[in-house]
Amino acid sequence: MQYSLVCIECKREYKRDDIYVCECGGLLDVKIEDAEIDFKLDGRDLWVWKYRSLLPVRIDPVTLKEGGTPLYRCNNLDVECRLYVKHEGLNPSGSFKDRGMTVGVTKAVELNKKAVACASTGNTSASMAMYAAKAGLKAYVLLPSGKVALGKVAQALMHGAKVIGIRGNFDQALSLVRKVCDEQGFYLLNSINPFRLEGQKTIAYEIVDELGFSPDRVVLPVGNAGNISAIYKGFKELRELGLIDSIPKMIGVQAEGANPIYKAVMEGKNHIDPVFNPETIATAIRIGQPVNAKKALRAIYESKGTAVQVSDEEIKKAQKDLASMEGIGVEPASAASIAGLRKLIEMGDIERDETVVCIATGNLLKDPEIVLRICGKPIEVEPNIDEILKVLYVSDFGKLIPPSDSLEGVHP
Ligand code: F0G
Repeated sequence: MQYSLVCIECKREYKRDDIYVCECGGLLDVKIEDAEIDFKLDGRDLWVWKYRSLLPVRIDPVTLKEGGTPLYRCNNLDVECRLYVKHEGLNPSGSFKDRGMTVGVTKAVELNKKAVACASTGNTSASMAMYAAKAGLKAYVLLPSGKVALGKVAQALMHGAKVIGIRGNFDQALSLVRKVCDEQGFYLLNSINPFRLEGQKTIAYEIVDELGFSPDRVVLPVGNAGNISAIYKGFKELRELGLIDSIPKMIGVQAEGANPIYKAVMEGKNHIDPVFNPETIATAIRIGQPVNAKKALRAIYESKGTAVQVSDEEIKKAQKDLASMEGIGVEPASAASIAGLRKLIEMGDIERDETVVCIATGNLLKDPEIVLRICGKPIEVEPNIDEILKVLYVSDFGKLIPPSDSLEGVHP
């Protein structure tokens, strides 16, 4: 297989791996050529490196067995379509970022880099720290202080990254870490790095591998806008290879308080106007100036998809419903995909017989503080059976019922 980096703006082609953006400032795409496919889309042995013949690396991968995440058919949520949820929260670090990091960190090793760095709303840093640990590289992280879910910070710290909180937002952290990488020679692992997106495109491959066909729509949360671009690229490649006939409509979901892509799509624009003070409970997608906006808008327009915005209340409800009705535990940003699907249905935009895949991007355990805000803390009682029964019956039936009566039919 041959590959090169191609600028999405001026189309300039580079036969080198050590750049992130074009000289003109445009985003780069990896162009894969002459691939000799050595896998079958038979639903077996799923993981990122099953698709190695379409991944642009030259050395053995740094891997923690990422990918191969379950695609659940969801019947309990009351949505008028054939709904599947792909649970990317079951990757090694608990988010889809691992697919990108296994390729990105492998590239760092290939390029003989000794240190990697990123700005992050949390998941990227957790994943990068994990893969850097595996590869024996130093890891540096810039986070928006006080705005990153606890589980994610815990991961980055425990896997040995140097974590710096800046008194600012993600967009500022990203702009700063790009300067640090330029000056210090660290390898930048944000999604502006085209090799990271190559790993993430395997989400598309896996969906087709598991379903046996291409769905009608893929719905996912959009923050820095890398993942929607990557998944679209994956489908596009499969179509170019003749492995599927059609590409799903790509639906980007944003929070109302961090919605630059949504606004651009509503206005039919090819660029975004930044949101300078993004705010949402879904801190993973609390981003006002997505670096991959141009790629994401291209993915949405070319696939005849769209973007929707959802409120924090809608996100919280979707998170609770997905967890309590389908047994799928996700973090708030991921639940935005379900909230977004509900919005599309409300707008009458979805046909009953459509197959829709929502991407659950990150695990419930990432953000335990939100869970307590939504569900409240467990009720505490004295170690006494009467006290326990009192709580059980009051909470289950709203009134006190003698235990013998109330248990009938509950536990046959
Ligand atoms: N969902 C989760 C759980 C995320 O962590 C992110 C991004 C997204 C969705 C959005 O993906 O940026 O490719 O559009 N998190 C990044 C981070 C920004 O730093 O962890 P995107």
